[in-house]
Order: sequence, then structure tokens, then C-alpha cells
Amino acid sequence: MNIIREWDYDDNNPPNKIVSADKPLSLEIGCGNGLFLSTIAAEFPQTVFVGLEVKHKCLTAAAKKCDRLVKENKITEENVILLNGDVFTALDKFFEPHSLERIYINFPDPWFKKRHLKKRIVNPDMAMQYAKLLKPNGKLYFVTDNEDYRDYAMEVLHGCADLSSEFDSPYYVTKLDRYPQSLYEKKWREEGRGIYYSGWIVRSV
Ligand SMILES: C[S@@+](CC[C@H](N)C(=O)[O-])C[C@H]1O[C@@H](n2cnc3c(N)ncnc32)[C@H](O)[C@@H]1O
Repeated sequence: MNIIREWDYDDNNPPNKIVSADKPLSLEIGCGNGLFLSTIAAEFPQTVFVGLEVKHKCLTAAAKKCDRLVKENKITEENVILLNGDVFTALDKFFEPHSLERIYINFPDPWFKKRHLKKRIVNPDMAMQYAKLLKPNGKLYFVTDNEDYRDYAMEVLHGCADLSSEFDSPYYVTKLDRYPQSLYEKKWREEGRGIYYSGWIVRSV
């Protein structure tokens, strides 16, 4: 499975936007080793799932996993796109506004220290950007085990004028049927940690 690298492109050589004319397009941000991505791709063969990940090593593992599933006829090469890039810079370069059906953010790094808060991939500016990339009625999923990030993200996402929560206050649930497990979800469940799922729908204009 090919890996597209954000850093192979620059202003003189911009990438083609990732579009899918005939199939829904969805994005997982920080896809890690690709367990969630490959599982959901196998479940929805008619959707193209892009896995965005800043660490090349993680994407190499994701590519191996996807190659194996292609061999086993569980997913197709067209089903998954792997993108090595940084969410803070890659979104505008690779995606058209209102092109995504779903965005998945599973167990993002919590960045506990105050001076690191700006590294959180959910913040007010990024929430606006996610809403802009989604189609009307498209959905952003945010899942975490971390209570501090959970509360921060609920405040940010609830405060985003373009998003409305799928769930009533406090805007998350502790069980979500048919949501595939990522590597971190498996790990934290084995440790008995609570998991918090939220869903945010783009308001139609
Ligand atoms: C805690 S891991 C969770 C991985 C996976 N989502 C899971 O649930 O198993 C967070 C992932 O987000 C990636 N990540 C962190 N900052 C990122 C950024 N700015 N852009 C893209 N990926 C990022 C990390 O490299 C890491 O793989």
C-alpha cells in the first residue's frame, strides 16, 4: 500500500486534492498502526478511508496491516489511502471543503502541560476546520479515555457554531455499539479505563 507524504510537496509542486467522485470519503486523524482504519474499511467497502498520521513508522505498520487484508480479500487497494502528514498543515493541502462524510479522532495525544495545550488536535480553530471539511450533516467522532481532554473537547466542540452534538449533555457516551476498536482502545479497555465517545454533526445551513 502506497504512503503519500505531505513533505514531498511544496508551493511549487502542490499535491492533487484527495477526492472521491463516486464513493463517500472519510478521514481518520492520527490513525496510528491502522487497526481502526483497516477494520472500518473492511466493514464499509464502498467508502474510501484516508488515514492521516504524522509518524511514518506508524503508517508503515498500517500499510502492512492493509496489505495483509487486501491479500485476504477483506479490503481493496481503493478502500484505503495512507497519508503521512501533520494535521495542522495537511488538511488544506489535501482536502476540498465539504468533501468528507466522517472524521474520526480516536485517542489523540492528551498533551497535559499547559504550555503544550496548543498541540491538541482539537481546539477552537481546528474544530472550525473540521466542520468546514465535512459535508452538510457529516459527522466528527472524538473518542478519548482522558477526562481532562474529554471535558476540554466537549467545551470546544459544543462551542463551535457549525457543529451540534449527537448526544445530550454532557455530550458523550461510555458505550457506542458497532464502533471499531483502535489499538489504544484495546489497550485502555484491558486496563479497565473508561472510554468516552462523542459525535458532532455539521449543522445544515
Ligand atoms: C495516542 S495515539 C492513538 C493512535 C490511534 N488513533 C489509536 O487509537 O490507536 C495518537 C496518534 O496521533 C498521532 N498524531 C499526533 N499528533 C499528530 C498530528 N499533528 N498530525 C497527525 N497525527 C498526529 C500520533 O503520532 C499517534 O499515532
